[in-house]
Amino acid sequence: MTSTPPPDIGEKAHSQASPPPDSPHGPHFAVQNFGDRMALGCVKLLRMFADVFFAGRYGHRVVVLETVAGVPGMVGGTLQHLRALRRIENDQGWIRTLLDEAENERMHLMTFIEVARPTWFERQLIVVVQAIFYNLYFLVYLVSTRTAHRFVGYLEEEAVFSYTEYLAGVDDGTYRNVPAPGIAIDYWKLPPDARLREVIVAVRADEARHRDVNHEFANALSESGTA
Ligand SMILES: [Fe+2]
Ligand SMILES: [Fe+2]
Repeated sequence: MTSTPPPDIGEKAHSQASPPPDSPHGPHFAVQNFGDRMALGCVKLLRMFADVFFAGRYGHRVVVLETVAGVPGMVGGTLQHLRALRRIENDQGWIRTLLDEAENERMHLMTFIEVARPTWFERQLIVVVQAIFYNLYFLVYLVSTRTAHRFVGYLEEEAVFSYTEYLAGVDDGTYRNVPAPGIAIDYWKLPPDARLREVIVAVRADEARHRDVNHEFANALSESGTA
């Protein structure tokens, strides 16, 4: 459990809600300690699994992975909320930022469910993975909040990379550039005739923001000497 108040980077986190850098893959945060190495290793393992299991079926890959992506923000938000209550301390904007992230990821899911429907097996997989991942992430957050945020930072680096690949697939005709779902047009305020391509660009911008916020959280904890 964190032993010092969350460093005050809430305002900075919110101020990063701007469009992503144009770089297709985005920046990579270099590993600096054992926790970072563990976090990166876990993310690479997950990526390998996703690459093999979905083998280019991007719509399905996105739907299943977004059910996972919506978990950390809610866990982190809950634990930071409980901590603020317990210690009667200001959360420095962390709770709102993390809960916003969870809601944003759920909107990604509700968008892509209009593009690809998971198979029966994928739905079973979602249930099992959620049960395991929720509990594991909860424990990691208690033991090392910094490592938990670093893990999400690396996960979001992969998300940016994956959406860039998905975009390339749309551009080269591998995936049909279908009309954007209504829910996406409303949520990102896209033009009424927007297509899948614009949705992917908007979602990738969100993932880049999550990446930066979570790496910043991990950095702030590191600088304050918190595990
Ligand atoms: Fe997402
Ligand atoms: Fe994300």
